[in-house]
Amino acid sequence: MTAVDKQQACVFGLSWGDEGKGKIVDLLCPAFDVVTRFNGGANAGHTVCVGDETFALHLLPAGVLRPNVLGVIGPGVVVDPIALLSEIDGLAARGVDVAGQLRISDRAHLVLPYHKLEDQLSEKAASEGKRIGTTSRGIGPCYADKMKRSAAVRFVDLLNKDALQQRVRRIVEQRRAMLSTRYGDDFELDADAVLADLETARSRLAPSICDTSELLHEAADEQKSLLFEGANGILLDVDHGTYPFVTSSSAGPHGIWAGAGFAPLEVTFRIGTTKAYATRVGAGPFVSELENVVGDRIREAGHEYGTTTGRPRRCGWFDAVSCTYAARLSSVTDIALTHLDTLSGFEQIGVCVAYRIDGKTTTRFPADTSLLLRAEPVVEFVPGWTGDLRSVRTFDELPEEANAYIERVEALVGAPVTLAGVGPDRSQTLVRGRIRRLIDVSEPTTA
Ligand code: IMP
Repeated sequence: MTAVDKQQACVFGLSWGDEGKGKIVDLLCPAFDVVTRFNGGANAGHTVCVGDETFALHLLPAGVLRPNVLGVIGPGVVVDPIALLSEIDGLAARGVDVAGQLRISDRAHLVLPYHKLEDQLSEKAASEGKRIGTTSRGIGPCYADKMKRSAAVRFVDLLNKDALQQRVRRIVEQRRAMLSTRYGDDFELDADAVLADLETARSRLAPSICDTSELLHEAADEQKSLLFEGANGILLDVDHGTYPFVTSSSAGPHGIWAGAGFAPLEVTFRIGTTKAYATRVGAGPFVSELENVVGDRIREAGHEYGTTTGRPRRCGWFDAVSCTYAARLSSVTDIALTHLDTLSGFEQIGVCVAYRIDGKTTTRFPADTSLLLRAEPVVEFVPGWTGDLRSVRTFDELPEEANAYIERVEALVGAPVTLAGVGPDRSQTLVRGRIRRLIDVSEPTTA
């Protein structure tokens, strides 16, 4: 581990997810003892490239790819236990054994087959314009059960086998009745299969289940360094995102308190991640979207296809209006600007600096989705650059135009870009400022 004082930091998305958070978390991990996921579930897709190997993580904190880091799934995460086990097994098959490095909150809720079923059926039944375009991972229905309280299952319940059997049979029957009334009978939902999944989860995951809030407090008391890993992105946040086209959790640092069970008073590094352009998967407003050949070019250059669902991502110019809104909400201290290399070769690069709505120009991000849907982007163009950036290792080596672009982003968003991504590998990250003390840039690129 890099010699640093006790540190607390968080990494989260300033956009609609897929900003490259996994790589930034992975890069920071040698300076941290514990990495905690605090929101979302298997809807997230964090990609980490190590040498020639690519790892796509959905539920596991990206930190577990490092041998000495403890990965924690906090109470605010909704966990599909079978998806989690298949992720653990998938890594084990590739020689990465993470089972002993994982702790799951006894207060975290379980995503069960009827949540995924409801997610799929309700999306299918929704009319055009109302469909959210979810990841079908059961996220919304599971968080809804959590809030409704009568039909939720938490990890602590797994440890009380007999009581759980009766409850789950009752919940499944109620859910079957509700789903068939709303969507017809064309689905399979078997209480025995749900119970079999729960038994698999209990037998394999029980050793990892604990009070993770207590674990984090003890770790902090022992002067250990804590990293918090946000999933999705602030524009998908249930309170602050483009509602109702959002996910169902709190995706920014504000989610740590509830979702990790830890007061983030000392989280001095709040690292907001955004691509050098914008992407979105699923439905909802996207003011700077480019539904043309330029958008297609960004998609192909950046391989913009979903890690979780494989869906092509919608692409557009960097949106300073939404990014500034997200950065202010999260009191960002550092911006990680990823995928700078993808923009190489564009003669000019657009930046959305304001919205034009009903004849008025604004730099405020409105709550009303219908305003966002009819907003026109006010785009400023800056000169592009050429050449492959992937071998660049310092900000000074970047083409002048790329540095000018970064300066423009900093000025608009009001926070420093201290990390920049120039390729998928750990080593292809430029670092400057005080965050350098957390990152060993000379680290080898093998796992
Ligand atoms: P859900 O989280 O599956 O309910 O999906 C709600 C919306 O959030 C959909 O538009 C999804 O495409 C989007 N979404 C959820 N998680 C992510 C993510 O990690 N990256 C990108 N989009 C996401």
